[in-house]
Amino acid sequence: MPTLLHINASPRGSHSSSLKLARTFIDSVRESSGSDVDVETLNLFDSGALPEFGTTAAGAKMAIFSGQQQTSEQTRAWDAARAVFDQFAAADAYVFNIPMWNSGIPYVLKQWIDVVTQPGWSFGFDPQAGYTGLMTGRQAVAIHTSGVYAPGVPPAFGRDFSSTFFADWLDFVGIQDATHVRFAPTVLGSDPEQARLLAVSKLDAAAPAFAARLAAAGVLQPAAG
Ligand SMILES: Cc1cc2nc3c(=O)[nH]c(=O)nc-3n(C[C@H](O)[C@H](O)[C@H](O)COP(=O)(O)O)c2cc1C
Repeated sequence: MPTLLHINASPRGSHSSSLKLARTFIDSVRESSGSDVDVETLNLFDSGALPEFGTTAAGAKMAIFSGQQQTSEQTRAWDAARAVFDQFAAADAYVFNIPMWNSGIPYVLKQWIDVVTQPGWSFGFDPQAGYTGLMTGRQAVAIHTSGVYAPGVPPAFGRDFSSTFFADWLDFVGIQDATHVRFAPTVLGSDPEQARLLAVSKLDAAAPAFAARLAAAGVLQPAAG
């Protein structure tokens, strides 16, 4: 059954501002639709949530690129990556909550991207035409938080390679129907609560169209009772 996959890239649980917004957005989608939504959550910081992608898995990937046979160890690593990709591919829609870490995305989200972004899975490559995203027909909402950085701050307060990288990756894999909402700064700044309310209002505004596209994809389940 198709699902809405929620990818949580914060380890901060009930203290996480991006996770709270993701949950608020998912509740708004449910309210907008008047139906239940089948949501699966992947907490990237949970122990064992992701397989390693090191020497063996990288060797497995390069074997594919060069048309060589994988060793049995490489095949096992490749199968473990494939299971993560299958969860990604089974969904029609995604909600990502992404705190900025050192101007970029948290390392577990990069690990997840490195696991699922494989030739023939999420992208194709043609020597003449270049790369093509294979995850078309899906939509995503990405919620970005940062404690200090906010658009327009002087460079001494940081730069954003997080939302820019992530937006580019979504496009790379073919998810062009993407909405990015930012809550920043969450810690510094004159009025974090005002920044949060602005993010909530943007997410509330995005929810009806998101719910309508989910319905069109057949994801929404009939409401109980
Ligand atoms: C390891 C780490 C690195 C961080 N790096 C930055 C940064 O480069 N720029 C910034 O503005 N905030 C940075 N922060 C602050 C977080 O982005 C901010 O607190 C955000 O709201 C956290 O989202 P969360 O509550 O969903 O985890 C960092 C926080 C942590 C834990």
